[in-house]
Amino acid sequence: MYMKISITPKEINEVSADIAIAFVYQGAKLSGDALILDRAVSGSLSRLILQDGFEAKTGQCICIPILQDTGKVLLARKIAVVGLGNKKMFTLDVLRRVGATVAKMSHAAKAEKIICSMPESSNIKDAQKFSQAFAEGVLLSSYRFHTYHGTQKKKDPKQKELKEVYISESRNVHAKNSILGITQAETLVQATNMVRDLVNLTSADVTPLVLAQYAKKIIGKNISVEILSQEKMKKLGMMAALAVARGSVHPAVGVHIVYKPSGAKKRIALVGKAVTFDSGGLSLKPADKMHTMKCDMAGAATVIGVCSILEKLKLHVEVHGIFLAVENMPGGNAYRPGDIVTAMDGTTIEVLNTDAEGRVTLADALTYAKSFSPDVIIDLATLTGACIVALGEDIAAVLSNDKKLAKKLLDAADETGEPLWELPLYEPYADMVKSKIADLKNIGGGSGGGTITAAMFLRPFVGDTPWAHLDIAGPSYTEKESRPDQPYGASGYGVRLLAHFLSGF
Ligand code: BES
Ligand code: MN
Ligand code: ZN
Repeated sequence: MYMKISITPKEINEVSADIAIAFVYQGAKLSGDALILDRAVSGSLSRLILQDGFEAKTGQCICIPILQDTGKVLLARKIAVVGLGNKKMFTLDVLRRVGATVAKMSHAAKAEKIICSMPESSNIKDAQKFSQAFAEGVLLSSYRFHTYHGTQKKKDPKQKELKEVYISESRNVHAKNSILGITQAETLVQATNMVRDLVNLTSADVTPLVLAQYAKKIIGKNISVEILSQEKMKKLGMMAALAVARGSVHPAVGVHIVYKPSGAKKRIALVGKAVTFDSGGLSLKPADKMHTMKCDMAGAATVIGVCSILEKLKLHVEVHGIFLAVENMPGGNAYRPGDIVTAMDGTTIEVLNTDAEGRVTLADALTYAKSFSPDVIIDLATLTGACIVALGEDIAAVLSNDKKLAKKLLDAADETGEPLWELPLYEPYADMVKSKIADLKNIGGGSGGGTITAAMFLRPFVGDTPWAHLDIAGPSYTEKESRPDQPYGASGYGVRLLAHFLSGF
């Protein structure tokens, strides 16, 4: 789907669009554009608002067709008002959600072209951030995944969909910055949608090898991609990751992406969990917990997505994107509960549950990342169901051995509207992943705190390197569509957050 968002110097009533949209704060009188629209329809907008008890809550909207001839007073076919909620609570994320709602409403009304202007705000002055958040909302919510729609649902070429969004900046003072914001949003959403596609594709289509080959597509001027074959992984001693892959017919594949811009002062490793399907292995998952497990490579997909735009964003930091792709299956050669495997750094791991496979693969991925002496390691992993119990579907967890790093990530998440919450690396829980007969065991032993014990398992593999672990099990995939900017399925959580975080170097 192609959508163009642009700035126009014309007034909201001067553009022939399918819908002209004005924004209103809760409890506020109609003013500005809303007033222009209301006057054009001789006050029927304000009458309808009164009759329907429209409160202008965030994302609440009214859309009405114009039946009388408005001549040159108003060129749009329909008008709409969209609520911004309480003016004091207005944030960029509200604007992002409003953008998403506007797009949803327009799709539903079969509008191809809409016009609106940015709301006035006393707390946000930055025109670039403003248009970026709004454009992100519009673009993020407009994502569709049609790869598997067969003949019955073939797209009707005559079906209308939103193609053009005009933002009126009649005074034109901010136009330049607004355009920058829109361009930034386009870049970020393009990468996010690439991640969504990768995660939404089934595990039959995205095998470890396919995922690795996909990463190669982003090779560029400053970006190289090295593929680690299963043999190479064996030579490196990645026996933990390889153990997980043994139950599958698909061999493991490692990927090492390197972005090296000239003059970079810091080196950051991004490590992604890359389990292309998680059946649980011999500790098989119940049927109702298994069908969404194509999402278990979302961490790696996000790493690919972020790396794909580093050059475009002109980021000044060296980035290493690393993942070890495997499929967790219960085949005849599968690793077993009770087995002890030796990770790349020599740590022995007692496998007590083959469904706690993510941490076993990450043990080697983190060791490999550490071997390049990065200043910071960040891993992203759909690691624990316990994280969904703790924080719900929308919120990811961050656990870090470095307070400043955690703070930076939390701030970035705040800015990009990707909910993130810190959980502690609580020292006493380290004992819960100590094995009686090996160095570590891969489960905490059923005393709760599963997200923390998983992180305590990972911690030794990064040593003293400042490290943050993001458990994205909740937000990476949704069957509930609880956020307007996030359609059914993969969300691409983390792309904007990490891009923003990296822009701080
Ligand atoms: N990939 C799952 C975690 C997961 C669950 C991701 C739900 C997304 C949605 C992970 O490999 C897993 O199975 N974890 C187990 C760990 C347990 C066996 C200690 C879990 O959370 O049940
Ligand atoms: Mn699992
Ligand atoms: Zn998993």
